[in-house]
Amino acid sequence: MRLVVRGARAVTLAEGPIPRRGAALRELSVVDRADVVTSGGLIESVGPAGSARAEPGDTVIEAGGRVLMPGFVDCHTHLCSAGDRLDEWERRLRGETYLDILTAGGGIMSTVRAVREMDEAALADGLARRLVLALREGTTTVEVKSGYGLSTVDELKMLRAIRAAAARFPGTVVSTALLGHAKDAAVADFVARTIGETLPAVRREFPASPVDAFCEAGAWSLDECARLFDAAMASGARVRVHADQFTPMGMTEWMIERSAASALAVSVDHLEATAPAALRRLAGSRLFGVMLPCTGFHTDDRYGRGRDFIDAGGALAIATNANPGSSPTWSAPLTIALAVRKLGLTPAEAIAACTVNAAALLGAADRGVIAPGKRADLVLLRHTDERMLAHHIGGNPVDAVIVGSAVVSGDGER
Ligand code: NIG
Repeated sequence: MRLVVRGARAVTLAEGPIPRRGAALRELSVVDRADVVTSGGLIESVGPAGSARAEPGDTVIEAGGRVLMPGFVDCHTHLCSAGDRLDEWERRLRGETYLDILTAGGGIMSTVRAVREMDEAALADGLARRLVLALREGTTTVEVKSGYGLSTVDELKMLRAIRAAAARFPGTVVSTALLGHAKDAAVADFVARTIGETLPAVRREFPASPVDAFCEAGAWSLDECARLFDAAMASGARVRVHADQFTPMGMTEWMIERSAASALAVSVDHLEATAPAALRRLAGSRLFGVMLPCTGFHTDDRYGRGRDFIDAGGALAIATNANPGSSPTWSAPLTIALAVRKLGLTPAEAIAACTVNAAALLGAADRGVIAPGKRADLVLLRHTDERMLAHHIGGNPVDAVIVGSAVVSGDGER
């Protein structure tokens, strides 16, 4: 099955190193008025307008100068969840902080209680619905974390639900085992049990899933994260971490040191409270920095210093951080719009940070760019200039989503 998009402004991101760092993040390799042919799930060719011959049976989209770009890659989400946190949100609006509520046994633990009450099928159904909503806004590859189970049985339940929802999703879902998201105060030896029991069980059934933790006051300490991650890496797991969201705990520095010796250390995510020197060191390491501008927008108006990180040569990815507590959105376009306003990125940098770089972070080198042989995961915008993605706030800029040569959302027509 072939699909031909004719006369598009193709934002290919095809040239440049992977991951993009520094000034390379600004090079989008745009081909104006391009014909893009896909077949068998892959991009077959990218040529000038008029170069593509449609064959009988081909699906043809006349782009009329609209932007065709790689599907968004959302590399940090908590889309598998249950319940809502509306009451807590109103408490935050009245002045309580995210950490106050977490420390008092709410926040993440509220969602943990709701997830424990829900069975695997219902969790998978809820996730599948949210994935479709993200797809409609152009997300074709999405990472989904566990982390609201916090027991062996419930973490496995979440990861199985993610796998079940992934099987129904036209795009790609990759799971991360967020085993250290919070600590269940009702379990005295929670950290030891997580490392000794939950980690091995998860590694047996989900060997490809990286291991993650939330290093924060009121969540996991530096020492506890280090014990979890050393055990995870010893078993061959890649590790990612939520660090410096509110409190610099030394975790960014720990990851930088580990990354010098091991390719299993992948990313440091959040970075709102990272000291300038640590941010520069992170930029000089082989780790990805992941910034989540919707989180500051929804919580306390604090943001990672994306501009400084890129200027220091860092490999930046941005993501929605979709979750019911700190970032209730799955919108990649909104994330791009906020990254420009709040992280100090240019529109081009924001686009590269949630396509080619996010794909590289997830180890998915087959996507995130438009080039022959790459996966045909594409988004056709209603805009004729990609900067409009960042300029517009709210609304859905996506006219069609293409996964593997099939139009899976929208119809591409004006
Ligand atoms: O990345 N900070 C830790 N984890 C999520 C929030 C999860 C929640 O509040 O439910 C985050 O912001």
